[in-house]
Amino acid sequence: MADNTTDDRPEVLVVRDLVKHYRVHGGTVRSVDGVNLTIHRGEIVGLVGESGSGKSTIGKMVVSLIKPTAGEVEIDGVAMSKLSRRRLRRLRKRFNIVFQDPGSSINPRGTVGSAIAEPLRIHRIVPSAKVEERVHELLEQVGLRPDTAARFPHELSGGQRQRVSLARALAAGPDLLVADEPTSALDVSVQASVLNLIADLQKDLGFACLFISHDLSAIEYLADRIAVMYLGRIVEVSDRRDLFERPLHPYADVLLAAAPLADPVEQRERERIPLRGEIPSPMDPPSGCHFHPRCPLATELCRTTAPELRTVTRDSGRTSEVACHLVADDGTRPPLPVASAVA
Ligand SMILES: Nc1ncnc2c1ncn2[C@@H]1O[C@H](COP(=O)(O)OP(=O)(O)OP(=O)(O)O)[C@@H](O)[C@H]1O
Ligand code: SF4
Ligand SMILES: [Mg+2]
Repeated sequence: MADNTTDDRPEVLVVRDLVKHYRVHGGTVRSVDGVNLTIHRGEIVGLVGESGSGKSTIGKMVVSLIKPTAGEVEIDGVAMSKLSRRRLRRLRKRFNIVFQDPGSSINPRGTVGSAIAEPLRIHRIVPSAKVEERVHELLEQVGLRPDTAARFPHELSGGQRQRVSLARALAAGPDLLVADEPTSALDVSVQASVLNLIADLQKDLGFACLFISHDLSAIEYLADRIAVMYLGRIVEVSDRRDLFERPLHPYADVLLAAAPLADPVEQRERERIPLRGEIPSPMDPPSGCHFHPRCPLATELCRTTAPELRTVTRDSGRTSEVACHLVADDGTRPPLPVASAVA
């Protein structure tokens, strides 16, 4: 069910039928509406989708910052909902999250060193006498000088602060790192260096990573597999190479076609796929397939019946998971009409 990949490394994260609904004035926001996802040891899975599709809500449920309305998060085979507060606190060293805004996880009044030392002390990772030395090592690991430990967060640049929050998140040696738009708040010029750093750290330390972003080029650079979200649901999970070669879900197709290409010539020649309307509200999601009001291929079945996320085998030999009535088991589907053909 949740795991349809051919990856035989142990599963670090298994998310089963995860739901988060918020009761608000005037109704219910269906932020996450039945999500299944697996991440294996040492794997980076990218989670991509438009603003409001539910990416951060999944990330926060994965690291137990918020409670699911239904469903389960398992980390290293342990179901989070069944843990007592005490055991959860002990297990916290196994997973961590970095946010877009590093300020939110670092106390502005404390030094950089004290921010990184905190998880080392809480989880008793090293003896007290060794904490300072370990803080210096961690700073070097994220490309900062050891004397940064004595400085205050406001004295650092955005890129340096994000490096500090990575050092802090990785201090306890987690098996799983959730990175929620870690580079979106940074200047374009430093985004690449922070992405490089995450890639290098992941190679050296081997943690699994859920990398959340709406930036497709960042996702393409980092992720082994990519999950595409639309309005609270995952609509496709594919190997990175397969997704960029041939997205199966019509929404994934449209999303990729809308992303700017590095090559301006390719950009001009690319066929544009028309996308009707705005992303609907998660307070009142469309019936059946959530994408049907905007999908150029929608049929009556799409309006009435939600497609399940199911496994198909591509001609690459790899499998994908896709939730679309029109994708056949061999990974084929009718092409989308291009703008020129419609106009
Ligand atoms: N505490 C809350 N109460 C009510 N609605 C919420 C709450 N938190 C999130 N939502 C709603 O849930 C939906 C999903 O939000 P979420 O932050 O997960 O989206 P996202 O994909 O991370 O978007 P972005 O790309 O803008 O970060 C949105 O419609 C949001 O308004
Ligand atoms: S299920 Fe139907 S509406 Fe949904 S993406 Fe597939 S073709 Fe489009
Ligand atoms: Mg978000």
